[in-house]
Amino acid sequence: MTDTNANNATFTVGDTNVEFERVSATQGSDGFSIAPLLAKTGTVTLDPGFVNTASCTSDITYISGSEGILRYRGYPIEELAENCSFLEVAYLLIYGELPNPTSLAAFGRRINEHTLLHEDFKRFFTAFPSQGHPMAILQSGIAGMATYYEHTLDPKDEEQLDMASILLLAKVPTMIAYIAKRAIGLPLLYPDSSRYYTEDFIRMTFGLPYQGEEIDPLVVRALDTLLILHADHEQNCSTSTVRLVGSAQANLYSSVASGVGALSGPLHGGANEAVMRMLREIRDAGLTVDEFVSQVKDKKNSVRLMGFGHRVYKNFDPRARIVKSLADEILPRLGSENELFDIAKSLEEAALSDEYFVARRLYPNVDFYTGLIYEAMGFPAKMFTPLFALGRLPGWIAQYRELINDPTQRIGRPRQVYTGETERHWIPREERQTADLLHLSDSLNVAKL
Ligand code: SDX
Repeated sequence: MTDTNANNATFTVGDTNVEFERVSATQGSDGFSIAPLLAKTGTVTLDPGFVNTASCTSDITYISGSEGILRYRGYPIEELAENCSFLEVAYLLIYGELPNPTSLAAFGRRINEHTLLHEDFKRFFTAFPSQGHPMAILQSGIAGMATYYEHTLDPKDEEQLDMASILLLAKVPTMIAYIAKRAIGLPLLYPDSSRYYTEDFIRMTFGLPYQGEEIDPLVVRALDTLLILHADHEQNCSTSTVRLVGSAQANLYSSVASGVGALSGPLHGGANEAVMRMLREIRDAGLTVDEFVSQVKDKKNSVRLMGFGHRVYKNFDPRARIVKSLADEILPRLGSENELFDIAKSLEEAALSDEYFVARRLYPNVDFYTGLIYEAMGFPAKMFTPLFALGRLPGWIAQYRELINDPTQRIGRPRQVYTGETERHWIPREERQTADLLHLSDSLNVAKL
């Protein structure tokens, strides 16, 4: 492709030249709009995993993979994590500016008014097996909000969309706390709107009725910081899912619920839980770090160093640095076993000096150390990814609102390159030679109920 002028590019297919307009970024990669490609050439681009493809322009979050930079609305993640509360950052992501004290107080009050769940919701959760994975229950609960708050479903109505945003931020912590309590058979606690957001989430999750809980401010601050670190991350898998579902003008609850589904994958938000499994397997198998790293490098295995690698960061994930220093500070104070932390630090040290990881620019990502902190706080591993979802909530909301308000956005409908059979015609059953393709037996002993 050659630049026809300082801005645009020309793409040549056979003897057809197509000009692509350059879309300038304020930071990072410019884009080329390929709008005329199909109409002019009859061809489409093919980019599995969208490694080279931007789905939108966005003003919300900027990541520089080569420099290890993450900024929300222009503010460096390090400054926000150090100086802000999670609600302050949520306000910034959704409304575009840091709130002044009056706006922040009003935002907190609006949220506090809606932290209760409809009483019927409790029965909703009892319909699920108590040991069912919390992400599946959370996804259902968030989608179910559309049935309770039908006056907040129209994304084109600014009042309704803003109310839906507040209801999600208000009710998801209560939902997650309910799910955590049901899993261990302990009584649910109602929200206490006199407490700060993250503090009350911790109280609902770990507190018991009629016991005045003193919540450790260190734990509140540490969890608030972790929620800030997870709050948004440009067009990651789950956010792109929220946008794709939202592009059909599906309501905010349905779109965010879809994002929860994407986040549950072990290559995405499920990695924090997978890291802890990996560390325990190394410890319990008595493997040395070098032995495990060798397993990872041996392509015959499908062993990955979970919590390492990133599609965008080809340098340190700035969030991982903050999480690691938070772990250094809080783990000893929470009396946590440092054995797994020591294994994690040795793994990081070994990987950062190993050619396999260096050549592929694989560094620790946000999920590498977070599980250690969550576990030291008392969260079971199954709750780690719901915590990621809680943190990502304002980002999903902000990205959905940006999409809905973007006049250039249309329903997302990717094309494909078809590689299947060309036209063929029906033949009678007796004449069919096809082997029995249904080779899967019922080896999985799935209950018939
Ligand atoms: C999150 O996108 C986001 O922003 C996500 C996120 C967010 O905030 O929303 O940052 C959150 O999802 C963080 C990532 C959490 N996932 C994990 O930690 C799982 C382990 N990491 C990977 O599976 C992988 O690194 C991904 C999924 C994160 C990125 O995958 P890519 O970009 O598709 O990279 P790839 O799978 O094509 O890997 C390129 C090479 C391959 O080797 P070769 O084929 O070139 O020989 O690197 C290898 C991979 O095998 N590789 C790894 C590895 N990650 C990549 N090898 C061992 N261990 C790993 N973790």
